Amino acid sequence: MDEIISLCKRRGFIYQGSEIYGGVAGLYDFGPYGVELLNNIKKAWWRSSVQLKENYVGLDSAMFKDPKVWHASGHVSGFSDPLAECKKCHIRIRVDKELGKIGVHADEKMSEAELIGLFDDNKSKIKCSGCGAKDFTTPKMFNLLVQSNLGNFTNKDEEPVYLPGEACQGIYLNYRNVLDTTRMKIPFGIAQIGKAFRNEISPRNFLFRCREFEQADTQYFIRPNENEQPYNEIKEDRWNWYVQYGIDEKNLRWHQHSHLVFYAKDAWDIEYNFPSYGFDEIEGIHDRTDYDLSQHMKHSGVDLNYTDPQTGEKFIPWILETSAGLGRMTLAFISDAYTLEQVKDGESRTVLKLHPDLAPIKYAIFPLLKNKPELVKKARELYTKLSEKHMCEFDDNGNIGKRYRRQDEIGTPNCIVVDFTTLEDDTVTVRDRDTTKQIRVKISDLVK
Ligand code: GAP
Repeated sequence: MDEIISLCKRRGFIYQGSEIYGGVAGLYDFGPYGVELLNNIKKAWWRSSVQLKENYVGLDSAMFKDPKVWHASGHVSGFSDPLAECKKCHIRIRVDKELGKIGVHADEKMSEAELIGLFDDNKSKIKCSGCGAKDFTTPKMFNLLVQSNLGNFTNKDEEPVYLPGEACQGIYLNYRNVLDTTRMKIPFGIAQIGKAFRNEISPRNFLFRCREFEQADTQYFIRPNENEQPYNEIKEDRWNWYVQYGIDEKNLRWHQHSHLVFYAKDAWDIEYNFPSYGFDEIEGIHDRTDYDLSQHMKHSGVDLNYTDPQTGEKFIPWILETSAGLGRMTLAFISDAYTLEQVKDGESRTVLKLHPDLAPIKYAIFPLLKNKPELVKKARELYTKLSEKHMCEFDDNGNIGKRYRRQDEIGTPNCIVVDFTTLEDDTVTVRDRDTTKQIRVKISDLVK
């Protein structure tokens, strides 16, 4: 993972947030190649979640919401992680994670009493990472919602507004609008990509646990108790999506939750086998029953019942959710694509074997030599032409071998070289990233 993190920084994929001020824990910025990769992942996800599904529509809801939303959702009262503090040096630890490190299973979904009991039984084995002491306060649940003062100009003690603890709430708030303004009928889905913020006690593992991140969510509205078949289909669909975009199936596995969060009836995670960290969640697939719409109906006073157009029957729909972190997905795609290979003469190369749809740059175009204006002109013309349809890069810097290595490291599927033969017969060489084989292709065929 250290090698991958170093590549991400060196090649402009991911930077530490506010780096020139020393960096802020749990915040990351996507650099020039990172944002291309992220956008391509979003495009691939949107294609499969909205474009190819007749009964799904998209949404982009405002990040800030009426604070009552977070009361209704249960986040104000129940969205907490267990925290304890070292009595000597005051470092804060996340209790479930520290228990996990010594082989005791615990998670944030356990009750406070359960966690206190487990921590009490095992605290003699947990050492403070700061000072080595084994003397902690009794664990307390710490609420993860991040607050802000949007619209509060008085500095009075008004209820704060909250940044979204999960992106999906905007979908529940607009379920009625979507029904009233489209031809959607149950069963139907709404998809959204949105930011989420959590005051994580110990952000860690690079993009894995951040305080600000993006989630790609779908919410599928169904008739009550008709959850089993669609739930299984959705699970299969999401698994296949990762495989379709290049994740090796042996690095994926299912994990069913034994302790459920407050809203879920059943919950499964797709886990990815991250280098160094091991298997951990990239996407949650949750059977949320009628929890969300019932809560919003109760707190808003608005009737969120669905009326069956055929039978006139009224019911509150159940919801099946898929929720994937885009940072974790990005890290999984990079990790799976990251390959260190021996090439001829004992030389090695690092190559990101990303699916071509996800690769930040699709074609890199090189003139063979920088100081031959006729080659540079021809290569520039080709770059301009291909850029109309694809993300391309022009590079005339350094020798060709170095240029290939650079593109290998950012995962460019094809490098195209304009050489002296090009000037004679209008052909170029096209190099394949994974095999490194080169073929000559007519420019007219390439553009076509
Ligand atoms: N709406 C359901 C929900 O938010 P979740 O399991 O808390 O469920 C869904 O989050 C996904 O969001 C996770 O599978 C993970 O990929 C991502 N995620 C959650 N917390 C995160 C964090 N602190 N940093 C980065 N990604 C996170």
